[in-house]
Amino acid sequence: MKVLVTGASGWIGSATLPRLVARGHEVVATARSDSSATTLSTAGVTVVRADLEDPESMTRAAEGCDAVIHLAYHHDFTQIDRAAEMDRSVLEGFAEALAGSGSPLLVASGVLGVAQEGLARESDPQTGPFARSHTATWVTTLSDRGIQPVLMRFPPTVHGRGDVGFLRRFVEAASSRGTAAYVDEGQTRWSAVHRDDAADLIVKVVERPTESRVHAVGEEGVSMRDIAEAIGVSLGIPTVSISRDQAQAEMGFLGMLMTVDASASSEHTQRVYDWRPEGPILLEDVRNGAYLDPA
Ligand SMILES: NC(=O)c1ccc[n+]([C@@H]2O[C@H](COP(=O)([O-])OP(=O)(O)OC[C@H]3O[C@@H](n4cnc5c(N)ncnc54)[C@H](OP(=O)(O)O)[C@@H]3O)[C@@H](O)[C@H]2O)c1
Repeated sequence: MKVLVTGASGWIGSATLPRLVARGHEVVATARSDSSATTLSTAGVTVVRADLEDPESMTRAAEGCDAVIHLAYHHDFTQIDRAAEMDRSVLEGFAEALAGSGSPLLVASGVLGVAQEGLARESDPQTGPFARSHTATWVTTLSDRGIQPVLMRFPPTVHGRGDVGFLRRFVEAASSRGTAAYVDEGQTRWSAVHRDDAADLIVKVVERPTESRVHAVGEEGVSMRDIAEAIGVSLGIPTVSISRDQAQAEMGFLGMLMTVDASASSEHTQRVYDWRPEGPILLEDVRNGAYLDPA
């Protein structure tokens, strides 16, 4: 298959590319900078220049492809609506390029905010208040245009050595505070997946896009208290409980996120795709210092 991967230079994309190449797919990867283009060109893929800010460049990249794996995203939490608008325009272009072909369009999303209570499941629609959730809901309607849309929902932490996501920010916050903090009893739980397991699943899904929502979830829920304790062990600092107000005052957005449950199931995904996450699990990665190396 000729597969377009956007965000190919990113954390998840860079683990996905070699797996696609190893499976014999012809991979086209988007890059928006010279440095990304140079890195990608060593991975045995065709590099095309495209930017989310220029949706037509993305549409052109998708033309003639048999599948699109859309991982690029403008991660600026001060511009949440603008990022979602750009994403929607790019996805409109992909829908145009793939219309009527029956081709898979995999779109990265998250489990955060999917369930109001308990485990988020694949059958749950995206109901969160954010513009990205609206896009996610709309993506699943693209089957009307003769496309196989798949919402790939990732846990808030796709972890591993080199990850610069939320876990690294927790570790950095703990390091500068001198204590690893959790809120109240620390019972809020986050689902998690190792990056390699997530990349293995993406390849399985693009090759057999039968489901409209897939959960790339390796662990259903790891408590914030356990995460803080593992961070404390890795940094050699004490673990403490803080209040919600203190978390938000001292850690802002990150402090707020610590209070949001993001537990999720991947029971359906594991069964349909015969996908068995092999880890390492999140706490192992944290305790073993995966977040202590410079990124
Ligand atoms: N990692 C996680 O824990 C996690 C959790 C939940 C959901 N997700 C979602 O999964 C997807 C992949 O995540 P990731 O962690 O791999 O992301 P990442 O490491 O931050 O990489 C983002 C990618 O998007 C590209 N990009 C950013 N702005 C762009 C623009 N204006 N035009 C074109 N490309 C642009 C970047 O290219 P450059 O190299 O040019 O910067 C990079 O390749 C994202 O949609 C993310 O929101 C990730």
